[in-house]
Amino acid sequence: MQIPSPVIDRQPLPTHVAIIMDGNGRWAQARGLPRSAGHHRGAEAVRRAVEGARELGVGYLTLYAFSSENWKRPAAEVDDLMGLLRLYLRRELAELDRNEVRVRFIGERRRLPEDIVQLIDEAEALTERNRGLTLVIALNYGSQLEIVRAAQALACEVARGSLLPEDIDETAFRKRLQTADIPDPDVLIRTSGEQRLSNFLLWQAAYAELVFLDILWPDFGKADLAGAIDEFHRRERRYGAVSS
Ligand code: IPE
Ligand code: IPE
Ligand code: MG
Repeated sequence: MQIPSPVIDRQPLPTHVAIIMDGNGRWAQARGLPRSAGHHRGAEAVRRAVEGARELGVGYLTLYAFSSENWKRPAAEVDDLMGLLRLYLRRELAELDRNEVRVRFIGERRRLPEDIVQLIDEAEALTERNRGLTLVIALNYGSQLEIVRAAQALACEVARGSLLPEDIDETAFRKRLQTADIPDPDVLIRTSGEQRLSNFLLWQAAYAELVFLDILWPDFGKADLAGAIDEFHRRERRYGAVSS
């Protein structure tokens, strides 16, 4: 199914769309429901986002599912979010695989429940050879720690004598990030009206077009994805140069 859109058909698609899925709590609060209800509805929006990205033909979709700071939330809410991820992976994995989706995770495995780590490994292994959409799920992810780990890796190589300090440049650094083989996002969407990155893809989003939407994540649909891509097409990316 083609999503009707005035601009989308005429211009190249962004290779990589990244989304900060925010506003589940406020969605629930506005309805007098517990925050968990917002997270449940948020999982349905994830399905729509993945389907929309597939239908449009986007190469990479990165979803911020749980930040390294989200452990600060009440234990019951954290359990709920982990439970939803479990459910999502168990229910959707076969279908994702059928649709040629390659599933990848970024973030720290440390601190995640054992069975979730197993599910992650399983999902990555099962879909490794798929050549459709690459779905990157950022789970227990924090960009600052990712950058620190890259610096540590470089320092270790220098200490071992396998790398010269003067050979450390942007390319060398980028190769030590968890996203080493993933192109940088072209568009970064955040829902809920909040306008910040909250420790998401700080290095990688250097030249991403930022699209802030006022809608809350559980209300996100395919048309919102197409709308954000339209907005991306209206922007002029200059990368520090002058307009041509
Ligand atoms: C996003 O919605 C889900 C996660 C961060 C995991 P929130 O739970 O942050 O919703 P708000 O921001 O409180 O509305
Ligand atoms: C960012 O949302 C993290 C995810 C969407 C997973 P938060 O709701 O945690 O961010 P802050 O606290 O508003 O910055
Ligand atoms: Mg939030």
